[in-house]
Amino acid sequence: MESREGIELPESSGRGHCIFRAIHLEFSRMEKIRIANTDSLRLRGTVQISGAKNAVLPAIVASLLTEDTLRLTNVPLVKDVHTILTLMKELGANYDLRGNSLSIAMPRILSDEASYELVRAMRASILVLGPLLAKYGKATVALPGGCAIGSRPIDLHIHGLEKMGAAISLEHGYIKAEATRLHGAEVEFEKKTVTGTENLVMAAALAEGRTILRNCACEPEVNSLCELLQKMGARIENPASGVLVIEGVRKLGGASHEIIPDRIEAGTFLVAGALTQGDILLAGTEPAHLESVTEKLRIAGAAIEIDRDRMRIQGSAEIHPQDITTSPYPGFPTDMQAQFMVLMTQAEGMSIITETIFDRRFSHVNELMRLGARIEVSGDKAVVRGRTPLSGAELMATDLRASASLILAGLVASGQTVIRDVDHIDRGYENIEAKFRSLGAKIERISD
Ligand code: EPZ
Repeated sequence: MESREGIELPESSGRGHCIFRAIHLEFSRMEKIRIANTDSLRLRGTVQISGAKNAVLPAIVASLLTEDTLRLTNVPLVKDVHTILTLMKELGANYDLRGNSLSIAMPRILSDEASYELVRAMRASILVLGPLLAKYGKATVALPGGCAIGSRPIDLHIHGLEKMGAAISLEHGYIKAEATRLHGAEVEFEKKTVTGTENLVMAAALAEGRTILRNCACEPEVNSLCELLQKMGARIENPASGVLVIEGVRKLGGASHEIIPDRIEAGTFLVAGALTQGDILLAGTEPAHLESVTEKLRIAGAAIEIDRDRMRIQGSAEIHPQDITTSPYPGFPTDMQAQFMVLMTQAEGMSIITETIFDRRFSHVNELMRLGARIEVSGDKAVVRGRTPLSGAELMATDLRASASLILAGLVASGQTVIRDVDHIDRGYENIEAKFRSLGAKIERISD
C-alpha cells in the first residue's frame, strides 16, 4: 500500500476499498491545513506539476466506449480520480493503478447507474451519460445537485443527446436515458460547455452517421480527450475553432495516452511565485496552455522564462494591479480567478475582477476579508484594493479553487492561518502541502 501525504492509495484493482474511501472521506473533513508564515517568505525551488484532473476524468470515462484496455499515464492521485474509479467499478470496470499509471477495461457492463452518492461527491460523474447511452443504449445518472460556485445546469448535455435520438426523462432525481442506437446530429451549443462538449463527442464517436458540434469548448482537456478517442479509432475532425465533426463508428479499441499537465495547478504555483517574490521552476508543464495567465502575471510584474516543458517565475518586489475577466479558453480561466484575486490584494492599487462563467464564484472573498483584504463584490464584479497587509486567521474552504486561494493568502499573511474543510483541496491537488513545503513554506496538515 503506497502512502502519500494525507491520501492512502490502494496499489491495485480496488475490491472492497470503497468502505475505506468513505471512512477516509469522513476523516479528511476533520483535517485542517496550518500555515505558519515567517515574514517575507520567498518560495524557492523546483515543483513537478501533476497530470490534469479535468483531463483524466473524461479519459477514464472514455473506457466505457470499448471492451479493450486503456492505459493512462501521468494520472494525478487526487480524490476525484478515486471517486470516478469507484463509479467505474460500480459500472463494471476493472482497473489497476500503480503509482501514476492506470490501466482500465470495461469487459462487460454490470450496472448503468451513477448513484446520487457519487454524483453528489463529484459533478463530473455526469460524463458517463453520453458513453453509457452510446455503448449500451441505457443510462441512469443522478442529477447533479447544487454547487458552491454557481447554478450548474446540464440542459445543454441533455438537449444535445436528445438531438442524437435519446429518450430522456427525469424521475426521482435521476436522469433516465435510452436509445437503441444514437444517430448523428447537428448541435450548436448555446454556451461553451467543457463537460457538455466532452459528453457529446464521446456519444457521437459510436453514433450512426455524422455529428457536427458547433460553439464547442476548446479547452486543452477537450482536445486531449479527442486525441485519446482518435487513438481508440474514433473519426473526429476539428475543421474550425469551436467546431467538431465526428463520423460515428461501430467499434472502438484500446489505447495508451498520457494525461496532459494540470494548467490550473501550474497557474496556482506561478501565482505563488509572484506573490512571495519567489523564484520557482515548474517542471512538467505545457506553457502554451497558460498564455492568458502568464500574460497577466507579466503585467503584474513577474518575470517568466519558458524552456520547453519548464517555466521559471521570479516575482517582483512591486505587484501591479490589473483587471481580469474570466472567459472560456483561450481566455482567462475561471479556475484561476480566486488565486489571482489573492495576488491583487498585494498589488499597489485597484483591480476589478469580473467572473463571467459561474454566478456564485466569490465565496472566497469573505474568507480573504477575514485576513484583512479589502474587496467589494457587486454582481459579477469584485473590486480589490491593495496593497493590504494580511494577518493569519481561521478560515473555511468552500470549494476546490477557493481552498487553493486561501493557502496562497496564508503564505503571505502574518502569523498563523488555519484552513478548515480541506477535503476540497484534495479533490484536485496532488500532495499540495509537500510541494509547498519543498519550496520553503511552513505548511502542514493537522487534525481537529
Ligand atoms: C468544467 O466544468 C471544469 N470541470 C470546471 O473546473 C471549470 O470551472 C469549467 O469547466 C469551466 O472552465 C471539469 O472539467 C470536470 P461548463 P463544467 O459546462 O463542464 C453553463 C475545477 O475547479 N452550462 O463549461 O461543469 C454553466 O452553468 C472545476 O476544476 C449550462 O448553462 O463547466 C456555466 O455557467 C470547477 N448548461 C457555463 O455553462 C449546461 O448544460 C460553463 O460551464 C452546461 C453548462
